[in-house]
Amino acid sequence: MKKILVTGGLGFIGSHTVVELQNEGYEVVIIDNLSNTTISVLDSIVSITGITPTFANIDLRNQKAVGDFFDNHTIDGVIHFAAFKAVGESVGSPLSYYQNNLNTLIYLLQELTVRKIDNFIFSSSCTVYGQADSLPITEKEPVKPAESPYGYSKQAGEIILRDSCKASELNAISLRYFNPIGAHPSIKIGELPLGVPQNLIPYITQTAAGLRGELSVFGDDYPTKDGTAVRDYIHVVDLAKAHISALARLMHKENKSNYEFFNVGSGTGSSVLEVIKAFEKASGKPLRYKIVGRREGDVTAAYADTTLANKELKWKTTLSLDDALASAWKWQLAQEK
Ligand code: UFG
Repeated sequence: MKKILVTGGLGFIGSHTVVELQNEGYEVVIIDNLSNTTISVLDSIVSITGITPTFANIDLRNQKAVGDFFDNHTIDGVIHFAAFKAVGESVGSPLSYYQNNLNTLIYLLQELTVRKIDNFIFSSSCTVYGQADSLPITEKEPVKPAESPYGYSKQAGEIILRDSCKASELNAISLRYFNPIGAHPSIKIGELPLGVPQNLIPYITQTAAGLRGELSVFGDDYPTKDGTAVRDYIHVVDLAKAHISALARLMHKENKSNYEFFNVGSGTGSSVLEVIKAFEKASGKPLRYKIVGRREGDVTAAYADTTLANKELKWKTTLSLDDALASAWKWQLAQEK
């Protein structure tokens, strides 16, 4: 049985990926410092799959602890989610973003290269494209100056990986996520935003649940079909499965070069108003919202061309925006209980 380390494995995307890995017969070891999640997610994973993953509460900024971990575990591959991810927060705390998102990556890669662990999957983001010149976005689209330290930390992470792959036996894949949303069909794991949600879907579900007064729609004067910004929302279960496909590609040595990157989205662009309408349909609840000014740093439109991922990863999405919104709403209702 292949043993996979999942850093940030109790987070939103990490926990869904752990479930899919276990379903595929991998043995999973999770490292998480619980900075943006709770230990109860571990129990939820066990209740979905019936398998208890090994769990280590390690802060990956502690280089010695990272070394000690690898001394005690024989690992076949790593999926690295652990990172700070709030765009706005990163503007106010650039150093903690660079320290957390880059040092942790470097410490892991140092251990991997010394120990000849060759398989590495990195959580990257469509934010690396900024406002792309053409849509849908293919992997040929150039990387643009980032809008935030968070965005730069993802760009730098990709460069660190590319160069490390060039200089060693390491094989790595960066997955450039579009907008992950939704919850596991069991409604046992989902997104757990701390405080006021910054992202659209948790803000919508909390508003519908009465926890927030109304949603602010950031801008209706974009050059899009209805004036609101367009994004590519992908069900988190589909996104989790892309990691399984990417890992299999590395394990079976099907990768075409030792550093590759793929867009992982649904391939469909939806405006904020379309998402609101779809949510109202999926939940049966009207949503209170008002139009306000644009949010700084937002791009007009971003959605993926997924041709490369479909072909090379032998992966495609199977769940719709409606499925994702229905699961997000059920998850919100479950939180109240
Ligand atoms: N939006 C609102 N009101 C809100 C929240 C969001 O109108 O209360 C709008 C945004 O302006 C945007 C869309 O909903 O047009 C989606 O916003 P999110 O904050 O949910 O997602 P982003 O596209 O801004 O950010 C996501 C990830 C980031 C990543 C980025 C890359 O959260 O980690 O995609 O584009 F960097």
